[in-house]
Amino acid sequence: MNKATAPEKAAAQRLPVFQRFIDDLRAIWAAESETQTRMEKARPLLEKLVMNDELKARSSDWPSTEGGKNLLFYVDDELGFAINGVVRMPGRLGNVHDHANAWVLYGVLDGTESLERYDRVDDGSKPGYAEVKMSSVTTGSQGKVDLVPPYDIHAEQGGPTRSVAVILRSQRLGEGTVLQKGFDPKTNTVTERYGPKQIPYDLSA
Ligand SMILES: [Fe+2]
Repeated sequence: MNKATAPEKAAAQRLPVFQRFIDDLRAIWAAESETQTRMEKARPLLEKLVMNDELKARSSDWPSTEGGKNLLFYVDDELGFAINGVVRMPGRLGNVHDHANAWVLYGVLDGTESLERYDRVDDGSKPGYAEVKMSSVTTGSQGKVDLVPPYDIHAEQGGPTRSVAVILRSQRLGEGTVLQKGFDPKTNTVTERYGPKQIPYDLSA
């Protein structure tokens, strides 16, 4: 008798477009060993996923992630990558931060968002002190995907309407994982903290 395992059952119940995305990512992870190459090869897959109208329609009732949260759609226990969602309320201001040693692909699914990038201009020798300067801003709507390398300093800003993004991370972030830096350009301070609180959310069919 054939008995489906728990991961097989979960896969069978997932939204097909999302399960295909996971399957394609797993194939890339199996074929490539470098994290950067994996993430670069995953970029067109995320671009395609966030252009999917069914997923966009489904995202209209995803709950807000205000208060430092991420929806957690999937973690690959074997290969380590994680897929998150973010739902920003209109005019949401984001904090300046890095993702520590994780690579991150950030794709806008609905609304508009801006990605601000910053350079660190002090030498890092003074504990708790950091000067950062904005180097660029890119604004985009559905289909825009940014690749954020490890330790890149940036902020994601909401637009005038509710916005939704899908995030592929090379590793799960959040409580109990790796400490990320948070920068305050007004006070020139830097602190270390865990990333967003992970809220499990099923993307079922
Ligand atoms: Fe970020």
